[in-house]
Amino acid sequence: MIKVENLKFQYDDKKEVIQDISFSIPKGSWVSILGHNGSGKSTLAKLLIGLVKAESGTIEIDGLLMNEENINEIRKKVGIVFQNPDNQFVGVTVRHDIAFGLENLRLPQEEIKKRVEHYAKLVGMGEYLYKEPQQLSGGQKQRVAIAGALAMHKDIIIFDEATSMLDPEGVREVSQLIKQLNETTKQTIITITHDLDFALKSDYAIILKEGQIIGEGKPEELFLNEELLKSSNLTIPEGLRVYLDVLNDEKLKENKRLVDELWTFNLKM
Ligand SMILES: Nc1ncnc2c1ncn2[C@@H]1O[C@H](COP(=O)(O)OP(=O)(O)OP(=O)(O)O)[C@@H](O)[C@H]1O
Ligand SMILES: [Mg+2]
Repeated sequence: MIKVENLKFQYDDKKEVIQDISFSIPKGSWVSILGHNGSGKSTLAKLLIGLVKAESGTIEIDGLLMNEENINEIRKKVGIVFQNPDNQFVGVTVRHDIAFGLENLRLPQEEIKKRVEHYAKLVGMGEYLYKEPQQLSGGQKQRVAIAGALAMHKDIIIFDEATSMLDPEGVREVSQLIKQLNETTKQTIITITHDLDFALKSDYAIILKEGQIIGEGKPEELFLNEELLKSSNLTIPEGLRVYLDVLNDEKLKENKRLVDELWTFNLKM
């Protein structure tokens, strides 16, 4: 369980980037944090892993209050895939990169080898284990970063726009992988995104705007609120746009089959 209460944060004295936000995330759920560029999503992620310190308010993770005393314990529980894959490649090869965190856990070499191979394969990078970062595309680096985070078997994983460089097929693969992991390993998953289609697959969504929560709820209910979506400045995907248009049309909305089919289409995106 993650519990955030009255959290405030600013980088400098000018403006509060996180303005008094509160929310909670139950253990084992998959939650999306949505918001336009600059709304404070990555800052919130940094607060959740203790990379920056809140000005006021509290963060509690599995009963541990975020403070200097607990930070190491919390970092053992929470993993993150950062937004820019270039800034987090630490190994000389893909294999070393995925192994890096595992070495720090001082796991037996045999176990490290097993996990590296398993997770590289899972993200479609099994053939690239001996490649160097400069030989990889942005999307491939993102896949490696995802494998590295998954291999750590943390209780909570935050993906900050971790699929932003993947092609639509890649996004579909990774979102399926996330869903599967969430169901089988019961890891708590937080995906930060501005992609409403991606967020539609999660259990719960929180929409940020200028450092404040402007809406939260089950995505399938939340995303029917057109005013909210407009106010969030998020791009409404074409499929969802058509669905909302149909719901707004007195005649068309009576056609249950059409409404159902359109919705199923959106869920598959
Ligand atoms: N290191 C920093 N120093 C000062 N201001 C910062 C810093 N990092 C971010 N900001 C500011 O904080 C605000 C929120 O930034 P943040 O990166 O959290 O947004 P975001 O929602 O993740 O955006 P994006 O969708 O572009 O990734 C922005 O106005 C940004 O300019
Ligand atoms: Mg960001």
